[in-house]
Amino acid sequence: MLGADVKDRIYVPIADDLDKVIANIAAVAETDAPGPTPEIEARLARVLATPGKRIRPAITLLASRLWGRIPDERTIKMATAVELLHIASLIHDDTVDSADTRRGHATASNLWGGNVAVLLGDFVFATSATFVCDTNSVRLIRRFAQTIAELARGELNEILESWLPETSRELYLQRIYDKTASLFSTSAESGAVLGESDEDSVASLRQYGYNLGMAYQVLDDLLDYEASSEQLGKPTANDLSNGVLTLPAILAMESGDARPEISAYLASSDSDRPRLLSAAYDAICQSDALERSRVIANDYVVTALESLESLPESESKEALIQLTGYIRDRQF
Ligand code: FPP
Ligand code: MG
Repeated sequence: MLGADVKDRIYVPIADDLDKVIANIAAVAETDAPGPTPEIEARLARVLATPGKRIRPAITLLASRLWGRIPDERTIKMATAVELLHIASLIHDDTVDSADTRRGHATASNLWGGNVAVLLGDFVFATSATFVCDTNSVRLIRRFAQTIAELARGELNEILESWLPETSRELYLQRIYDKTASLFSTSAESGAVLGESDEDSVASLRQYGYNLGMAYQVLDDLLDYEASSEQLGKPTANDLSNGVLTLPAILAMESGDARPEISAYLASSDSDRPRLLSAAYDAICQSDALERSRVIANDYVVTALESLESLPESESKEALIQLTGYIRDRQF
């Protein structure tokens, strides 16, 4: 199993810069205009404290170095912005999902209720935007704003498409682009722009981010079936229990293998729901849908690697290559 040490090894070329990003994030709870009051500060400090995998800022920082430039203050600010946007979206996501835990810790909505959680998320969203403004790039500000709209669209569609008797692979792929691949793509593209890359290479990095993000979310959805809740730090089969059909369920519906069980579950009354959830979950796990989902995720990883082929060889490129392996092999 790949652990934190593997990720840390990938992050070696950018370790000092990632520390600056983390310091910027911690400082959000302390300063800024309008500065948070002590009551808000304590809550912000809490939601900003739990370290994630920092994949998105790492991508920005690594991409910016591909043409030999050392990340400057603008790049550190952009990397901070993408991580803050990610944190804010998770605060909202946990509120929408009524999730009690994330990364093994109580969520903001669990601790302080949905209203406080949404507004804390808004505070972090708005702050992320101020960091992008510090890049002085209208291009990046525009792309960042589009990404926020895409995140919201993905989450909205996830809710609006939940519990429907039918969904499709196309709708699912659009949703995971919006929810996840959009921000991965923006993280990579912004690094390339700030690293003063040529436009063809910016497009290659955008493709790398897109494909890595798609792979990441397909695997995240697969782990929702495969990993234990202890490994995940959140409940197993969370998506299905919220009426959300992700790739494993969609493939098992398409092939017909688990169609009767999934259809019965989606149409269930409250009293039958736990029993039918368990039957649908078992039918999906017994079909070949989990295996086929992994093949699709691997195809995205391969395409992400192909996107890097035309770029100059460097330590940063090697780290971006290694990152695809880390994402492909992650167990939780
Ligand atoms: C986690 O995915 C959720 C996201 C990657 C995106 C969430 C986006 C929003 C809540 C919209 C943000 C709102 C605004 C105003 C822009 P997941 O639910 O599949 O993962 P999980 O299982 O870890 O919760
Ligand atoms: Mg969620």
